[in-house]
Amino acid sequence: MKILSIETSCDDTAITILEVKKNTYIGKKTIPTSFEVLANSTNSQIKIHREFGGVFPMMAKREHIKNLPLLLEQVLEKITNYKLEIRRKKINKKKPVDLIAVTYGPGLEPSLWTGIVFAKELAKKWSIPIMPVNHMEGHILSPFGKSKEKFIIPNIKTPILSLLVSGGHTELILSKKWMQYKIIGETLDDAAGEAYDKVARMMDLPYPGGPIISKLAEEARKKEKQSLRGVSQDDGPRGSAPLASGDSDPEKISFSFSLASKIKLPRPMIYSKNFDFSFSGLKTAVLYLIRDLKKENPNIFKDEKIKQAIALEFENAVVETLIYKTKKAKEKYKIKTIIVAGGVSSNKHLQREMKKAMGKDTEVLFPEKELTGDNSIMIGIAGYLQFIKKNKKVPKISSIKAKGNLRLR
Ligand code: KG4
Ligand code: ZN
Repeated sequence: MKILSIETSCDDTAITILEVKKNTYIGKKTIPTSFEVLANSTNSQIKIHREFGGVFPMMAKREHIKNLPLLLEQVLEKITNYKLEIRRKKINKKKPVDLIAVTYGPGLEPSLWTGIVFAKELAKKWSIPIMPVNHMEGHILSPFGKSKEKFIIPNIKTPILSLLVSGGHTELILSKKWMQYKIIGETLDDAAGEAYDKVARMMDLPYPGGPIISKLAEEARKKEKQSLRGVSQDDGPRGSAPLASGDSDPEKISFSFSLASKIKLPRPMIYSKNFDFSFSGLKTAVLYLIRDLKKENPNIFKDEKIKQAIALEFENAVVETLIYKTKKAKEKYKIKTIIVAGGVSSNKHLQREMKKAMGKDTEVLFPEKELTGDNSIMIGIAGYLQFIKKNKKVPKISSIKAKGNLRLR
């Protein structure tokens, strides 16, 4: 069985063709199931949205409409002699896949509609069913996928706790049983990725902010380690030898002790009893911090060390908060497996610290780098697993609609 999956919830257009290789029925479950990625094509709009410092919905819609037919052609060419068949008008008669999975929410409604309308046209043309997919369920299942090879959905120990962290969402989701969801905590304002993006903008850095801020923070961590050892490679001319241990130039060894110690940001919601998050206060604290630092030096962002120090403290605040809440929920619900997914889950510091904090009794799963952000492989997996879970019952095509505020249930 082949599944064509479509993702257009935000600024990435993506189409995948997955083949189900093996279905093992255990009781009512179909685990493990193995898949193969036959074709996968994506088009990121980051360059276009960079100019606006974020995603511009109508522009995203226009790009999806342009990209979808091109990506479809690319994936079909991988599994059929598409061009030849098109010429012979065969493609309309012969169905190249058996099921379509399409994201119907949450996300930007104009973007979601482009994928849904496209899916409906194909489903009618090929007379095949559509399984609408919740984008967040796709993220939860993303650690099981592979971007290029075959993969197996393993038997996962429950209860599962999923931390979804992206540009639009920060949620803690409890699954007492496989593929059953209850949101137990979420952000009251900005999402974690959104905070990264906004702080980057305050520091005159381009969109998306996450990768750039985390790179600056990693550089600061490296220097901090070096300065603690009394060795600093800071400020030397390119290619110069590192300063010897015990170098007494205070300017050069001062990184962690003077600058970073001046910079303190709050760990939001750590004292609240629930599992909710809030990142807008942290963002405002960064704004005030930058304002105060600029009073001393209006050109602070010309100084790489200052950018690194702010990035380090900001990232530590975000990661500590995410881990604190996840750990509390883990203890309360006696969690056996933790899944961290979404764009922010590619953050190296979060990955290291989360694994350390959760201990050996809990399995902690992250997606591979290519599957942390939005992709259609995860939509194909979720679509097929739902198709099986619902005993191959799919909604009527005309009833499928975009739901911008869709929630996991
Ligand atoms: O899941 P995603 O690709 O799109 C949605 O928002 O749905 O996530 C994008 C978000 C952006 O806010 C981006 O800044 C953030 O993920 N991000 C990161 C990192 N890479 C991407 N945040 C922190 N550290 C990273 N390494
Ligand atoms: Zn997403």
